[in-house]
This record gives sequence, C-alpha cells and structure tokens, in this order.
Amino acid sequence: MSATSRRLETVGSANWGRGPTVLIDTYGRVATDLRVSLTDRCNLRCTYCMPEEGLQWLAKPDLLTDDEIVRLIRIAVTDLGITEVRFTGGEPLLRPGLVGIVERCAALEVRPKMSLTTNGIGLKRTAAALKAAGLDRVNVSLDTLRPDVFKTLTRRDRHHDVLDGLEAARAAGLTPVKVNAVLMPGLNDDEAPDLLAWAVEHDYEMRFIEQMPLDAQHGWKRDGMITAGDILQSLRTRFTLTPEGDAARGSAPAERWLVDGGPQRVGVIASVTRPFCRACDRTRLTADGQVRTCLFATEETDLRAALRSEAPDEEIARIWRLAMWGKKAGSGLDDPSFLQPERPMSAIGG
Ligand code: 5AD
Ligand code: SF4
Repeated sequence: MSATSRRLETVGSANWGRGPTVLIDTYGRVATDLRVSLTDRCNLRCTYCMPEEGLQWLAKPDLLTDDEIVRLIRIAVTDLGITEVRFTGGEPLLRPGLVGIVERCAALEVRPKMSLTTNGIGLKRTAAALKAAGLDRVNVSLDTLRPDVFKTLTRRDRHHDVLDGLEAARAAGLTPVKVNAVLMPGLNDDEAPDLLAWAVEHDYEMRFIEQMPLDAQHGWKRDGMITAGDILQSLRTRFTLTPEGDAARGSAPAERWLVDGGPQRVGVIASVTRPFCRACDRTRLTADGQVRTCLFATEETDLRAALRSEAPDEEIARIWRLAMWGKKAGSGLDDPSFLQPERPMSAIGG
C-alpha cells in the first residue's frame, strides 16, 4: 500500500474523539456548509449561465429521490459535522418535493441551518410554506431593476415575478433576504449604485458576484468581466463604504462593507480577482448525487452508486470524507492553465 493510500485509509476510518468525524482536507480546512443542488433545470436562461435553448437536462432516474437527498443530508449532519445546508439548482423551486425535503431536514436530531438560493420566480407562491417547513433564509438573484434589461439578461419577461417573490420572502420572515447580482458589461454594469440604493430602501442585503467561468457556452472572458474593484469604485460614487474586516467575514465568500456607516451592508464576492479558497468551508452535492469539493473541481465522487447499492451510512460517510481529503488548494482560476469544469453552474449548484 502506498503512503498516500494508507493516509486515505486513515482518514476514511478515523474517529477523532467523540461526535461526528469532520470533513477535513489536507490543507486543514473543515467543511461545515453543504450545498445541495435539487435540480439542474431552470425557468430562466441567464446569458452568463445557459444558452437560449436550455441544456440537456439530467434524466429523472439519474436524479436523487427525495428520500436519497434527505438520507445524505442526515449523514452529513449527524456523521460529518455539517451545520448549514443551502438548497440550490438550477432553480430549486422547480423541485416538486422541496417543501417536504426542508421539513424532513428541519426534523433531524441536529437541526442544520437551512437556506435557499433561488431566482425568486415562484417564491410568492411558496415562501410561507417554506418558512413553515423550517427554512431560515433565502438568497434571491436579481441583476437589474429595469424590466427590459432583465428580459435581455434572462431571456424571459419575469422581472415583476422576482420582485413579488422578494416581497413574499420578507413578509414570510425568510430573513435576512440577500439579493445576488452579476454585472455584465454593456448590460447592467451601470446599475450597482441603483441596486444598492433599492436594496437599502427595501431592507435586502445586496451582494455583487463577479462573473465566473461556469457558463455552459464557455463564453466567459477574463478581460471583459466587471471586477470587484470596478464594482466598489462605482458604489463609492454614491455611498461611503467602510470595510467590516476579515474577522467578520470568517469563511463567508463575501467581503462586506457598511453602507453609509451602517447598519445596512453590501457584499462583494470576488471569486476571480480575490479568491477566498483558503477559508473555504464548502462541500457540494449535485442533483445526481455526486460530491464536488469545489465549484471548479474537475473530479466528482459518486455517492449515488453507493446509495443504490445499499451501502450503510458509515460507508457513505467514509466515501464523502475521502472525497474531501482530495480537495485542491484552490480553484486554479488565477492560473493561466485553468480549465473550466465540464459541468456548468446550473448542474453543479451555486
Ligand atoms: N458567475 C457568477 N455568478 C453566477 N451565477 C450563475 N452563474 C454565474 C456565473 N457564471 C449566480 C446566479 C445566482 C448564484 C447562484 O450564482 O445569478 O445568484
Ligand atoms: Fe437559472 Fe440561475 Fe442559471 Fe439564471 S443563473 S439561468 S436563474 S440557474
């Protein structure tokens, strides 16, 4: 047996002290935050994500069932030290069993914190039920305040539905409601101050995300993208921003600033120009049951096969720990040899 595989064996079976054996990697990072993609489908077609015609969706038998998802989350929470679960997609509200999944996760012996990343369409209908089921919070994507720009960016005329969804989330108490925006050159790159002013007025926490090379069409260009530096410069034309500092950031990807002295904040997620891989505390599960250690990972580990071959919980936990042990130091985005992952963001989960 090689030294590496002996080390992996140890990680797979070790139980350090009492309680769950955590998901740790060779850089000493511990994953406590699980992102679960519930579907790769979406009812929008954001240009930085998908082509107009959509994608080749996963076939139903390949998707994890609700029972399989709840089982994996239970294992993650009770055996692997996960404390936070974020449901993503594609668009997670398209998953018929979503409310039931949330309810069953809320009933787990160690209840994880639960949030949802959504495009907001359909939230008006589901926000109250999600809150009642035990969901804590939502992140809603909204890139523009202009309905015509929304239509160009998402290729769907649904701006109003997103605004209604946001209102419904706040009314249901899914707070703090965070709003994610990606700025695209020539489309909405002039909107950062307007979006922030609107968010402050409505008590949403605005977060700007640098466009990442995760689009299915591979159209991302480093040169063309709007950087965190550009965003901050634009915001400072109208607001005074005071950094919150690294202590407040913890392992959160967003760097945050107080807006005009606070209490409102704005976040910037600079995955490309200021990566935060060293503090990463994530592990990801795709809708077809693959563990990914990073959005940009080029490898996946199959948990679905283990689930469907009736592996016991301990075996599934062991496979998951081994996968995390292999997590790379960083996304590699800053390396000229960077290779975009095969799967687009919509199939990985944001
Ligand atoms: N780069 C940056 N953000 C993206 N999102 C989707 N695709 C990309 C990309 N290529 C955003 C969505 C959503 C969140 C899950 O990620 O707008 O807010
Ligand atoms: Fe859908 Fe999100 Fe992709 Fe837009 S970014 S098409 S809302 S999955």
